[in-house]
Amino acid sequence: MTTTLDRPAVKPARPFFSSGPCAKPPGWDASRLATGVLGRSHRSKLGKARLQYCIDLMRELLELPDTHRIGIVPGSDTGAFEMAMWTMLGAKPVTALAWESFGEGWVTDAVKQLKIDPTVIRADYGQLPDLNAVDWSNDVLFTWNGTTSGVRVPDGEWIPADREGLSFADATSAVFAYALPWDKIDVATFSWQKVLGGEGGHGVIILGPRAVERLESYTPAWPLPKVFRLASKGALTEGVFKGETINTPSMLAVEDAIFALEWGKEIGGPAGLIARSDANAAALDAIVAERPWLGHLAADPASRSKTSVCLTVEGADEALIKKFAALLEAEDAAYDIAGYRDAPPGLRVWCGATVDTADIVALGPWLDWAWAQVRTA
Ligand SMILES: Cc1ncc(COP(=O)(O)O)c(C=O)c1O
Repeated sequence: MTTTLDRPAVKPARPFFSSGPCAKPPGWDASRLATGVLGRSHRSKLGKARLQYCIDLMRELLELPDTHRIGIVPGSDTGAFEMAMWTMLGAKPVTALAWESFGEGWVTDAVKQLKIDPTVIRADYGQLPDLNAVDWSNDVLFTWNGTTSGVRVPDGEWIPADREGLSFADATSAVFAYALPWDKIDVATFSWQKVLGGEGGHGVIILGPRAVERLESYTPAWPLPKVFRLASKGALTEGVFKGETINTPSMLAVEDAIFALEWGKEIGGPAGLIARSDANAAALDAIVAERPWLGHLAADPASRSKTSVCLTVEGADEALIKKFAALLEAEDAAYDIAGYRDAPPGLRVWCGATVDTADIVALGPWLDWAWAQVRTA
């Protein structure tokens, strides 16, 4: 007789369930990256063309309107979001929303580094704060998808069209997984390492027209390092949005992003990417529904992430989760599924587009196996 103590017959073919860096696109191999630009200046005709191509592909797959600019910047998502904070905040009062670790990190930046005394609206892990309590005469900082709690904003309905302040969305684990309402977003940032399965190191910054207006009309009181400077003498540095990066980029990371974006186009563009995330999240949800010892950390399905899905495990503490994840890693059945270090002990399974649904399905019995092991230990 088979018991859950026996190893399941089928293993996920690609056990890459980390929430960042995330699984490479199916079929990815380093030998498939274009390398003609490596060893060349990023300011050569070829270098600029590849950067511009990467920008064009992102615009296409994000369905970004012409009203919004998009540029590649240093420092991954953190660099892009801090660049936005450092260059634009201070002109108006600020409200910062925090319901998990990364949103809390932007609060720390605002309070301790910029010292701008923001209004902070918080919620516990698993919850969303009251979005209707936001005063939109303020600039508003928030995380579209809270990667460490698996709670996201459901949509952009809570952001008024006639807002006075600017909306700043850290959208790193949201882009390419949800259709974003760009008219409600003045600033968005992300890194290629999430839904695209690209590399860290570079960030992407998206600016709506009102953000550009802020950059051209306002100079913050604090000093700005060169890697944050987006405007000069009252004018936006337009080159940044045409592939003329502030400093030297990793062209290998750019080529890797291009590979992922071309794959995204092949599988049906934005709709294809979103459908894959949706299918993965649904497959994981079915696994959770069948197991009384597993639950969702995000209480409300309407604001539950479809990328970084965070799970509760009955009676789990940090030691149990560590063991649970280590058992699966040792079997090459699932890598990196322990929850984030600041989150309540639990599991976290990436469901972004680069993960195959069959692998999520195959993960279910392995979760049972690990659960049986930790309980009999
Ligand atoms: C919501 C959110 N913000 C910021 C970051 C930091 O991203 P990076 O390491 O690309 O700077 C992460 C990484 O997981 C994230 O999930």
